[in-house]
Amino acid sequence: MKINRNFDDLVPNYLFAEIAKRTSAYISAHPDQKVIKLGIGDVTLPLPPVAVQALKNGADEMGVKETFKGYPEYEGYDFARQAISDYYDEFGVKIAADEIFISDGAKSDTGNIGDIFGADNTVLIPDPVYPVYVDANIMAGRKIVYAPGTRDNHFLPMPDDSVHADIIYLCSPNNPTGAAYSAEQLKVWVDYALKSDAVILYDSAYEAFITDDCPRSIFAIDRARECAVEFCSLSKTAGFTGVRCGYTVIPKELVRDGHNIHSLWYRRQATKFNGVSYPVQCAAAAVFSKEGQQQIRKNLDYYKENARIISAALDELGIYYTGGKNSPYIWLECPNVMSSWEFFDHLLNNAQVVGTPGEGFGDQGKGYLRLTSFGDRDNTIEAVERIKKLLK
Ligand code: MLT
Repeated sequence: MKINRNFDDLVPNYLFAEIAKRTSAYISAHPDQKVIKLGIGDVTLPLPPVAVQALKNGADEMGVKETFKGYPEYEGYDFARQAISDYYDEFGVKIAADEIFISDGAKSDTGNIGDIFGADNTVLIPDPVYPVYVDANIMAGRKIVYAPGTRDNHFLPMPDDSVHADIIYLCSPNNPTGAAYSAEQLKVWVDYALKSDAVILYDSAYEAFITDDCPRSIFAIDRARECAVEFCSLSKTAGFTGVRCGYTVIPKELVRDGHNIHSLWYRRQATKFNGVSYPVQCAAAAVFSKEGQQQIRKNLDYYKENARIISAALDELGIYYTGGKNSPYIWLECPNVMSSWEFFDHLLNNAQVVGTPGEGFGDQGKGYLRLTSFGDRDNTIEAVERIKKLLK
C-alpha cells in the first residue's frame, strides 16, 4: 500500500489551520486577553433576511410529502441557475443557465477541477495567491510555475510569453492583495491562453467588492468563452461561509484535447458530488433577487467601511499597502523589515490582533501581512487603535 507521496511536498499545515492553531495556543496561554481576529476572511454579519426566509421555506417544503425533494440535480436546480444567469446579465455578461454548476463553494471547485486535467500539464499560478490552487496541484503532482506579483507590478502579474502554461489560475480581485485586473490586462491573459491552448481558471469570489470599472467576470472579455472557466461563491458576497454555496461557469463551446470541458465536469460532478441541498439553493436564489441584492449591498458597504478604517490607519502610519478598495483585504508591508511570521507574532503578542502572514500565500508574500475587513466594526476600530499604538 502506498500513499500519495505528493503530499510530502506540501507545507505541513494548510495556512488557515496553522493560524488557527497558533491563535488558539495564544488564547489558552492568555485567557484574560481579548484577541481580535482579522486573519481568515470569515464574515461576521448575519445572512440577509431574504436568504434566511428562503432557507426556512425550503426546509418547510422538505417536510411536506407533495413538495419533498430527494437528491438534487448534480448541476443544481434550474431556478438557482437561472437566478445566477440573470445576475450576470445585470452586468452585461451573457451566461446561459445550463452553463452554470451550483457547488458548495469556490474552494472545492478550484481544487477539484484538476480531476479533469492530466497530471502532466504545467500550471501557472500567480504568487501571492489563495493557497488552494498551489496545494491542490501539488497533491496532483503537477508542475507549477509562478507569475510573481510584486510592488513593481502592483501585485498584478502579467503573462510572460517565454513561459509555457497549460492551466492558468487567476484571482481578481486578488486574494490576498486585493488588486483587481482591468479589462485590458485580462484581455492580455485571454490572448496568452488562446495562443497556447491553455485554460484559465478564474476565481471571481470577490467580484461583488469591485466598485470601479474592473470586470466582474472574465466573460466580460472578448473570446474568454473559448479559454476560461469561472468560479464564484456566495461566501463573501452574501455571508454564506457557513451555509456553503458557490457556482462554476463553463461555456458549452470550451474544448481542449478533443474533449468538451463542460461535459467532463458534469461527468466528474455526477460521480463525486451529490449537489447542494434544496434549502441552500433556495437561499442562494433569494440572494440574487432585487431585495436580496439590496440587503447584501448593505453588508458589503459595512465591510468596505471597515476596509477604509484600516487603510486610513495605515496611511497615518505611512505603511505601504494595497487592496481595501475593490476588496475586503488589505495587504501591507511589514514594518521594520520584519518577516511575515515575525510581524504576525508581534501583532498577536503585543496588540492581540491576528492577521495572515503574507508568505502563506507564496514566496512573493514574504515581508507582507494581510488584514481582513470582515470583522465587526467595534473590533475593527479597536484593532486599528491597538496597531497604531504599537507601531507609532
Ligand atoms: C481567506 O481568508 O483567504 C478565505 O477565507 C479562505 C477561503 O475563502 O477559503
